[in-house]
Amino acid sequence: MTVDVVPVALGDRAYEVRIGQGLIARAGAEIAPLLRRPKVAVVTDETVGALHLATLEASLKAQGIAMTALHLPPGEATKGWPQFARCVEWLLEQKVERRDVVVALGGGVVGDLVGFAAAVLRRGVRFVQIPTSLLAQVDSSVGGKTGINTPQGKNLVGAFHQPSLVLADIDVLATLPPRDFLAGYGEVVKYGLLGDAAFFDWLELNAPHLATDAALRQYAVRRSVEMKAEIVVRDETEEGDRALLNLGHTFCHALEKATGYSDRLLHGEGVAIGCALAFELSQRLGLCAQEAPSRLRQHLRGLGMKVDIADIPGELPGPEALLALMGQDKKVVDGQLRFILVRGIGEAFVASDVPGEAVLGLLRDALQGR
Ligand SMILES: NC(=O)c1ccc[n+]([C@@H]2O[C@H](COP(=O)([O-])OP(=O)(O)OC[C@H]3O[C@@H](n4cnc5c(N)ncnc54)[C@H](O)[C@@H]3O)[C@@H](O)[C@H]2O)c1
Repeated sequence: MTVDVVPVALGDRAYEVRIGQGLIARAGAEIAPLLRRPKVAVVTDETVGALHLATLEASLKAQGIAMTALHLPPGEATKGWPQFARCVEWLLEQKVERRDVVVALGGGVVGDLVGFAAAVLRRGVRFVQIPTSLLAQVDSSVGGKTGINTPQGKNLVGAFHQPSLVLADIDVLATLPPRDFLAGYGEVVKYGLLGDAAFFDWLELNAPHLATDAALRQYAVRRSVEMKAEIVVRDETEEGDRALLNLGHTFCHALEKATGYSDRLLHGEGVAIGCALAFELSQRLGLCAQEAPSRLRQHLRGLGMKVDIADIPGELPGPEALLALMGQDKKVVDGQLRFILVRGIGEAFVASDVPGEAVLGLLRDALQGR
C-alpha cells in the first residue's frame, strides 16, 4: 500500500505527515535526512515501548543511528510537572544538543509532553512525532500544540512547537486496546462534524470497519490530518478558525476535570460526549434541526461509544459546578465562554454569546438522565 503524504505548509516550519503501513520499520531511513549526527533520544511510555520500540531501534540501527530511550508510565497522569521534569532532565543527561532530534513514540500523552520538552530544551530542539494511538495520529501529533496539565486544569502550560516530521504508521493501531481505538474515533468524527459533511457520510458507512480494514483506516487518518493541516495553516496560533477544532472540547475538559483525568473518561470519549452536547445545545438554541443531534447520537451509539454524561461511571458534580469548571477552560475570552456550535453536520462556527442559562439547562437535563 502507498504512503500518503500530507504537507503542513507553515513556511520555514513546514513539515510532512507521512501516513501508511510499516512506517516504524522504515523510520530510520525516514528520519536520517534530518540528523546532523547519527544519534537520537526516544521517549515513549512503558506500554508502547514494550510493543514497538524494538522495531524502531532496529530500523534506526540499520541506518547506523544510535538510540537511547526513556520509558514513562502510561496514562494521562504522566502529563504533569513531575514526569515533564524527569523527561527534560533525562534529555539533558543524554547530552541532547541544539541540533539534535528528539523522537516521541506514543499516544497524545507522550507526544504533548515530549513536544513541550523539545520546545524548552536548550530553548528549542527539533522533534519527530511517531504517534501510535488513533487519537495521536489524527490530531495531537499534528499542529504543534504541546504541553502538560496542572492541578488548575488541562493543557494550561505549554508551547506552540511544530514537529519536523510526523510518521503515522497505521499498523501499530492493531495493538491499541479497543477502548482507546474508539476514543480516538471521537476526534475522527469531530472532523466530519465540524467541516466536512461528506466525510461524516463516509464514516457512517465505513467506521464499523476501520479497526479491521487497513485501506479504510488509512483514508480516515489521511482525511482527518488533511483537515487539521488545512486549519492549522490558516490559523496556527488559534486567533480564529483553529478554535473550530475544539468542537465538543469545552464540555470535554470540564468532564475530564470532574473525573480527575482518570480512566473513568478518556479524552476522546469526552470529545464524543462533548460533540453530542454541542449539537444538542445548538438545536436548543434554534441553530440546527433536531435531525442533526439525533443522527450523531445514533452513529456514536451504533459504534458502542459513550454518548451521554450518563455513560460516565461514578459521581459527578452538579450542573452549576460543571459550568464553573468550563469557566476555567483556557478558551475563556474576557470572562465570556466561547462555544463551538453548529448549524448542521459539517457546519461548525465559533459563538461567544451563548446564554449561560441555556448551557445550565442542558447540563441539568443531561445530569438528570443519570
Ligand atoms: N496537542 C494536541 O493538539 C492534542 C489534541 C488532542 C488531544 N491531545 C492530548 O492527547 C492526549 C490523549 O492522547 P491518547 O488518547 O493517545 O492517550 P495516551 O497517550 O494516554 O494513549 C492511550 C493509551 O494507549 C496506549 N497506547 C498508545 N498507542 C498504543 C499502541 N499502538 N498499542 C498499545 N497501546 C497503545 C498508551 O500506552 C495509553 O495507555 C490527551 O492528553 C489530550 O489532551 C492533544
